[in-house]
Parts: sequence; C-alpha cells; structure tokens
Amino acid sequence: MELKHFIDTQDFSKEELLDLISLTRMIKEADKQGCTPRLLQDASLAMIFEEPSTRTRVSFEVAMSELGGHALYLKPGEIHLGARESLGDTAQVLSRMTDVIMARTLKHETMLGLAKYATVPVINGLTDYNHPTQVVCDVLTMLEHKEAGKPLEQLKVTFVGDATNVCSSLMHICTRLGMSFTHAAPKKYQAPEAWQKIARENNAVSGGSLRVTDDPVEAVKDADFIYTDLWWWVGQEAEIPERSKAFMPAYQVNMDLLKKAPSHAKVMHCLPASRNVEATDEVLDSPRSVIFDQAENRLHTEKGLLVWLVYPRLKRPSGSLKAYHSGRIQDFLETRWVK
Ligand code: CP
Repeated sequence: MELKHFIDTQDFSKEELLDLISLTRMIKEADKQGCTPRLLQDASLAMIFEEPSTRTRVSFEVAMSELGGHALYLKPGEIHLGARESLGDTAQVLSRMTDVIMARTLKHETMLGLAKYATVPVINGLTDYNHPTQVVCDVLTMLEHKEAGKPLEQLKVTFVGDATNVCSSLMHICTRLGMSFTHAAPKKYQAPEAWQKIARENNAVSGGSLRVTDDPVEAVKDADFIYTDLWWWVGQEAEIPERSKAFMPAYQVNMDLLKKAPSHAKVMHCLPASRNVEATDEVLDSPRSVIFDQAENRLHTEKGLLVWLVYPRLKRPSGSLKAYHSGRIQDFLETRWVK
C-alpha cells in the first residue's frame, strides 16, 4: 500500500482534494444524524505539538475517538523529538506503535523530517510555512456558505492581512482548485514571490487567478469570502508597534471595509483571533461571519482526512482468524496458568 502523507495540498491534484472534501461531507452528514461510522476502530494517532493549539488538538482527538480509535497528546517537552533522540528515530518508533502521526512543528523542515522517516501517514497540523488541514476545512466551509448555484471555480477569496502560514496554504489550495485568490497587505507583508510562483503555476493548469495588492478596498470589491488572520504571532511581540502601524486601520476587517464588499460576502478567520485588531467584534459576531461553522468544520475535516489516509491501511482480519488466535491464546493460558 502506497504511503501518503498530508504535508502540503500541493502534493495532491484538484480531483484528490475534491474527493477528500466529498468524503468529509459524507462523514459530516452521518455525524449530524448520530451515525459516525467507526471506520478507525482500535487505530491510534500520535499527536506531536511543539506549539499550543485549541482547534487542531481537540478536533483530531475527538475525530479519532468518534471514529473508534484513540489519540495520544504528546506535548512539548514530553517526548525526545530532535533533542535526546533523532527525528528519524522518533518517527520510526511512533510508526511501529501507532497508525498515523499528526504534528504541529515550529519549523517546516521538522515536518519534512518526520515524513521522511515515518512508515505511517504524517499529517501537518501547522508549521511556520503552511496549514493544509485548516484550508481543506476552509474550502468545505466556502462550499457550504457560497451563493446557491455558484460553481467553486467562480469563487473569489480575498485574504486581508499578514502573509501567514494560513495565507500561503489558502493561496495554494484556492489556485489549485481554479478559484480566484487576492492577497491585500502593505507591501512589506505581502506574500513572497516563491508562494506567488506556486500559485501562478497552479493557475496555468486550473484556470484560477492571483492578485496581490496593497489596496484592501479594491481587493474586497468582488469578494465572495473575506479572510483574515493574526497580524503577529508568538515570537513577533517586538514587532507589534511596527505591524500595528502598517495594518491599522486600512487592513482591519471592520464594518467600513465590509460595506465595500458585495452584500453576500462572508467573513472567515482560522482563529484564534485578536478581537478588534485584525477584525472587529462587530464583524466577527455578525451574521456575515462564518467563523464558528469554520471552526466546527475542523472536526469534520480531520475525520475525512484520517479516514482517507488510514482506513485503506488498516488490517481487517476475518472473524475466523480472530477466533483462531483468541482460542489459541486462551488454550495456552488455561493449560499453563489457570489451575
Ligand atoms: N486554526 C487553528 O489551527 O487553531 P489552533 O491553533 O487552536 O489549533
């Protein structure tokens, strides 16, 4: 069985990504009727976190449990990752004991190292470069909240704010799927050329489009979805004054900016949010905001992804084979140990 990791949506075709989303929608529908199939019965997920998380941790852990499996939370400092043990050794040991590894790592190279040595699927739960599970969830949310009848390929997504790891992933999945993607940010904080090159290559195949601008009003004018993210992250505290000055007020997603967008445009945020910084309470809590549907969709997406990657790899022995082994072991116990 071919080993598939989920490190970057660029590793998958449009058809594969849409298949994953279709599977996720089927599992979500089953879940809403209280019928989540226990497709990963007895399977184990190792979850490595080098950074804190609410949505990623909870969604993967609950997903695994509802699918009949089990998740282990391995938090910073609790395993020997790359410190007292090489990355390769950790990846190989976890591969012998679990069926899938999900990791949130500070450096993208760490994720690639895990994937290089692991012999079970590795899922990227965020690195300094990208956040692929988040953006699969985002596309699912867009499909659920788009104008009725509008094809996916006609959707226009505008990301307002810093060129974060979510921005890179969203740019790449949107262009891979043939959608239009705009990044609006002050020049210093715009998506780097290397990301834009990948998006342009996607567009050449998919028919999507890319626009990078420092004009947020122009950027939201035709948007179906306006997406924003934090303006600074852990480790960037010293840059807060400079970043605030660069982004505020023009790039804040507030009612003034929302009024410049079409009336059907929805607001998205991967969360956590700095309320009243990159987006106002008024917008985040308005009927135009889909942020909590988006957050819930992390759970459904993790289920789809786990089933997609792990279910085909699980052994499903026949009842007679299970009975043979159970009987053999019980006979041994009864003859040797049970008096
Ligand atoms: N969006 C997201 O990944 O949230 P967490 O950092 O809480 O996991």
